[in-house]
Amino acid sequence: MENKAYRGHDLALPYPSQGHINPLLQFSKRLASKGLKATVATTVFIYNAMEPHNSPGGSVQFETISDGYDEGGFLQAESIHAYLTRMEARGSKTLSDLILKHKDTANPIDCIIYDPFLPWALEVAKMFGLPGAAFFTQACAVNFIYYQAHHGLLKLPISSTPISIPGFPLLDLEDMPSFISVSGSYPAYFAMVLNQFSNTDKADWVLVNTFYELELQVVDTMSKVCRLLTIGPTIPSFYLDNRIEKDTDYGLHLFTLDSSVCINWLNRKPAGSVVYVSFGSMAGLSKQQMKEVAFALKGSDFYFLWVVRASEEANLPENFVEEVGDKGLVVQWSPQLEVLSNKAVGCFLTHCGWNSTVEALSLAVPMVGMPQWTDQSTNAKFVEDVWKVGIKVKIDDHENGIVGREEIQSCIREVMEGERGREMKENAKKWRALAVAAVSEGGSSDKNIDEFISKVTRR
Ligand code: UDX
Repeated sequence: MENKAYRGHDLALPYPSQGHINPLLQFSKRLASKGLKATVATTVFIYNAMEPHNSPGGSVQFETISDGYDEGGFLQAESIHAYLTRMEARGSKTLSDLILKHKDTANPIDCIIYDPFLPWALEVAKMFGLPGAAFFTQACAVNFIYYQAHHGLLKLPISSTPISIPGFPLLDLEDMPSFISVSGSYPAYFAMVLNQFSNTDKADWVLVNTFYELELQVVDTMSKVCRLLTIGPTIPSFYLDNRIEKDTDYGLHLFTLDSSVCINWLNRKPAGSVVYVSFGSMAGLSKQQMKEVAFALKGSDFYFLWVVRASEEANLPENFVEEVGDKGLVVQWSPQLEVLSNKAVGCFLTHCGWNSTVEALSLAVPMVGMPQWTDQSTNAKFVEDVWKVGIKVKIDDHENGIVGREEIQSCIREVMEGERGREMKENAKKWRALAVAAVSEGGSSDKNIDEFISKVTRR
C-alpha cells in the first residue's frame, strides 16, 4: 500500500546514458510514490541535454554532479578510459559536495543508490557514513556472467562451446555479451562491467532491474553468492495498468522527441499492422546494414515506424523517406512506451537493449531481435529460447556482421503472421501479466522495494 508519510531521502546516481538513466529515474519515482524524497543526480551535460527541460522528473528532484566534461559529455573525451578516469575524480568530488549541501537541511540524504558502472560512488557514500545500494540496470543473467568472469569462475577467453552456466540454457559464444564473444573489443568498457563487482560486498543492498519470475533460475543461482533484491520492471505503472495518458511521466529523453507525429500516425493504422523498429540510444548501424534494414522494411508487407537518430540519418539510402510514403514513418526519437502500447504495433524489431526488451515483454509485444553489442546478444538468446517471445535474426555475412534484407523480412513475417508469431504473442501476454503482478501490491518486486524502503529510514 502506498504510504506518503516522509520516510527519508535517497540520492540516485545513474551512469550518464539514456538506457541507464531511464530505469533509475523510474525506480526513484516509485520510491517517491512510497514516501521517500527522491533525488536523481545527473552530469551537467546530461542535465542540459534533457527533454523537456522543465521539471523532467515530476515527483523526483534533479541535481547535478560533474564528469569533468560539462560542455560535451562523453563525446568530448579522447577515449572511454579517459572519460571514466576523469569522471571518477570529478564525480567523487562533486558527489561529496552534493551530500554536504544537503547535510544540514531538513532533508539530509539517507542513502545513495548508485549504478555499479560507477563503483566509486559507494566509497563516497561510506565516507559519509551513508548506506549504499548498487542498482544493476541490466539483466540478472548478464550480471551473473560478469560476476563469474570477475571472480575467475568463467575462464576467458572461452575455449569450448556450448557454455554451461548454472541457471542458464546452454550458450554459444555469440550468445555471450560482446565484450566476451569479441575478445579484445572495448577493453575499457569490459573492465568497467567486471569492475561492477569490485566492491559490491560492501554495498548494503544489491538491487537488480528485473523481476523474479522472469529470471528465477538465474536469480536463485546468483542469490547463493550475493543477496539480490529484484525490483523491476521499472516502467511507469500507468502503462502497465493500460491507463495511457501522455508521455510526460516517463520523464526524460536525451533526444528530440515528437510524440504527436508518431502517435497520430499509429492511430491511423489497423491493429497489429505496424513493425516498430529501434536500435536504442547508442548502437550505430553501418551504412550497409542500414541499407539492408531499409530495403527489408520497404519490401515487406507491413507498415513500419523506424527510429533513426539524427547521428544515423546520413546512413539512410537516398530518397528513402520520400519513396516509402505513408507505408513508413522515420523519426529521430519516439515515445517508446506509448508506441509499444499502441494497438497498431504488431512487432518490435529491436537491438534487445535491456530496457527495450523488458518494455516489450511488459507491454506484450513480440520481438525480432537484432543485437548489436554489449549485453544485447544474451538478452536476445533469452527472448528466443527462454521466454519464447521473439526470434533472433541470423547473420548472413559473417565477415562484416551483416544481416541481409531477406532474413530480416522473413523474421518479421514469422512474428507478424506466422504460427510461431501467434504463440509468441500469447507468451508475451503471460509475461506481461507476470510483470504487472511483480510490481503490484504484494508482488515479488513490490515486496522487495518495501523491504528496501523499510531500512532506508531517517537516521
Ligand atoms: C544500453 C544497452 O543497450 C542496454 O542493453 C543496457 O541495459 C543499457 O544501455 P540502449 O542501447 O539505449 O541502452 O537500449 P535500451 O536499454 O533499450 O534503452 C533505451 C531506452 O530509450 C528505453 O527505455 C526506450 O524506451 C527509450 N527509447 C528508445 C525511447 O524513449 N525512444 C526511442 O526512440 C528509443
